[in-house]
Amino acid sequence: MTDAAHAPFHTGPDFARAADAADPLAAFRAHFHIPRVRDVAPSATTNPDAPCTYLVGNSLGLMPRATRDALTQELDDWASLGVEGHFHAAHPWFPAHEEVRANLAGVVGALPREVVAMNSLTTNLHLLMVSFYRPTRERHRIVIEDAAFPSDSYAVNSQAAFHAPHAGFDPARAVLRLTPREGEVTLRTEDILATIDREHASIALLLLGGVNYYTGQAFDIAAITRHALAKGITVGWDLAHAAGNLALRLHDDGPDFAAWCSYKYLNSGPGAIAGAFVHERHLADRSLPRFAGWWGNDPATRFRMTPDFVPVASADAWQLSNPPVLALAPLRVSLGLFAQAGMPALRAKSIRLTAYLAFLLDDHNRRHPSRAVRVLTPSDPAQRGCQLSLVLPGDARAAFRALQARGVVCDFREPDVVRAAPVPLYSSFADVHAFASILSGVLAEGAA
Ligand SMILES: Cc1ncc(COP(=O)(O)O)c(C=O)c1O
Repeated sequence: MTDAAHAPFHTGPDFARAADAADPLAAFRAHFHIPRVRDVAPSATTNPDAPCTYLVGNSLGLMPRATRDALTQELDDWASLGVEGHFHAAHPWFPAHEEVRANLAGVVGALPREVVAMNSLTTNLHLLMVSFYRPTRERHRIVIEDAAFPSDSYAVNSQAAFHAPHAGFDPARAVLRLTPREGEVTLRTEDILATIDREHASIALLLLGGVNYYTGQAFDIAAITRHALAKGITVGWDLAHAAGNLALRLHDDGPDFAAWCSYKYLNSGPGAIAGAFVHERHLADRSLPRFAGWWGNDPATRFRMTPDFVPVASADAWQLSNPPVLALAPLRVSLGLFAQAGMPALRAKSIRLTAYLAFLLDDHNRRHPSRAVRVLTPSDPAQRGCQLSLVLPGDARAAFRALQARGVVCDFREPDVVRAAPVPLYSSFADVHAFASILSGVLAEGAA
């Protein structure tokens, strides 16, 4: 980043314009379709043809312009080549999952053979728990955040219920939910480590979100993983809100496994193909229990078509089926943009964009203490990614609807939280400025 990109924040729109002009990643915005105000807010009366203020890349990332052509290419290859496309398509289908591997590994800080793109997130969590949740009567508990995404709660509850009759434990007491201290909304690392110290003898698996979907809190993946592994606990991470958001170092941090989706920060479209990571130390272990399918078999022997499964020594061993080409094309395009931009540069811009949002909200709170916005997300940049979770004063749902009507796209979580996530690939400082000033105006109207 240039010096201008480090200048102290100011409240006026000139600052945002200058920051965008100095942003070395600004050109990436042009690689995305930004929805127009008229399409996302049909009732909006001002600037209907302008791009909306899109701050919901933590839910569904925007579509890269190159995605349409990439998909059309696959369809054209199918139309013209039929089955020959497996080897002669522009991006041959047979090794389609191989083509995304290096860039996928780059985004999450893994070795290429530690990652695979497959299935969807909850499916991958289950497949990985088949291998890495190995409960016994004495040691069977699973630690998650109390505020975990519901799908994770369902996944661990159902895994515990599945094993309980055979292992001989009570599934109703198998999931240990981490709660914040009284009066606090986020978890303290020291408290997580203390729980591990206190309860480790009964804990089989720790499965946390890298970034909590609700509060936006980013966990200290390195410290928590190290501590839990040292106590003999298997460690997995749900990186739905962390992949493409934080500068992850999965190989070095050493969790046993991780999984993430690609429709949020990884911009690969609704229901996009997900990712999975298995640490290198497990890849040669053929004794691990797992659910197997032919695309997990060693490619050297796959087409001998024998009934004996020989897992390949990579994360592909967890892959069941042949690669879904139409799902992989958008991921390939998006990961190409991540590779060009580089996670360190993206994270540097992200820290600054989100700090700018926090600065503008502070300014609003100073000027209007009676309608102050409370930020649930930690103020320490190391403990958050792009997203800030905001508790709005007064009728938060009405304020959210008023934001929508003004072309702001963010989201609402019951009972009163608006989540706003400026993402470094396509959000601008001007977007952040627009959001903060529209929000301030909306809250003033609500108070009038
Ligand atoms: C943290 C987290 N875990 C799990 C899921 C479920 O993802 P999927 O529907 O892709 O399985 C989500 C979805 O948003 C999520 O945010």
